[in-house]
Amino acid sequence: MPYFRDRFVDQIVILTGAGVSAESGLSTFRDSDGLWEKHDPMEIATPEALARDPALVLGFYNARRGQLGDVQPNAAHRALARLQREFEGSVFLVTQNVDDLHERGGSGQVCHMHGELNSMLCAQCGASMPALPTFDQNTQCPHCGLIGSLRPDIVFFGEMPYHMPDIEALLSGCSLFVAIGTSGAVYPAAGFVRTARQSGAICVEVNKEASDVAGYFHHHYTGPATQQVDKLVQEILD
Ligand code: OAD
Repeated sequence: MPYFRDRFVDQIVILTGAGVSAESGLSTFRDSDGLWEKHDPMEIATPEALARDPALVLGFYNARRGQLGDVQPNAAHRALARLQREFEGSVFLVTQNVDDLHERGGSGQVCHMHGELNSMLCAQCGASMPALPTFDQNTQCPHCGLIGSLRPDIVFFGEMPYHMPDIEALLSGCSLFVAIGTSGAVYPAAGFVRTARQSGAICVEVNKEASDVAGYFHHHYTGPATQQVDKLVQEILD
């Protein structure tokens, strides 16, 4: 039976953030060279920004989608996929990331609570579909035919993240919760550690520095995700 640090563990919930993809070459949001240092999130990642300046918002996400072809999953993505394959209990992976590096790193189950760059959404008919490589305010929805209704299938500030009831249920039942490469600045994800801890889970943070919610974790693996996730996964599987 699987044990971690002398505690029986059968259900694991992993939360990842931008730090897990940083060493693949994708910028985080709040580090010194992060995306929100260069752009005001309120001008890019809100429904109001999309209505006010669709060219700016759609262009920002087109550029980020375009970057995906230039980057590769790293050792942290691969280690998590290995954990999902080899752990004897269940491993639920929830990510705030909108990239596809967990999938390309071999993870079969990935819950994208903030949406995905490779998906687009029609605000008129509600259909979500694989994203065109680029689209703008003159692109026709392939589903309903309307022009100008397509948006990135990304959860903007002020919108409800996806799959929250499922995530909350899994957090309440897990015995190990691991947060990797996330600053703890954005809720509801930043509150997951409290839910898991209240439910009796061991809580582990992997980050190159302490997050805003570091005090809620029992254990800290401090350093680059490519090294620390591999170490943690090895310990869990041993
Ligand atoms: P942040 O940019 O807020 O935080 C990234 C975290 O990763 C920081 O705590 C860094 O210390 C850590 N980090 C950076 N490089 C690392 C490395 N190589 N190894 C380990 N840790 C590293 O990104 P998130 O927490 O993911 O939402 O941001 C949460 C949400 O805020 C995003 O999903 C996005 C953003 O606004 C939306 O756009 C809706």
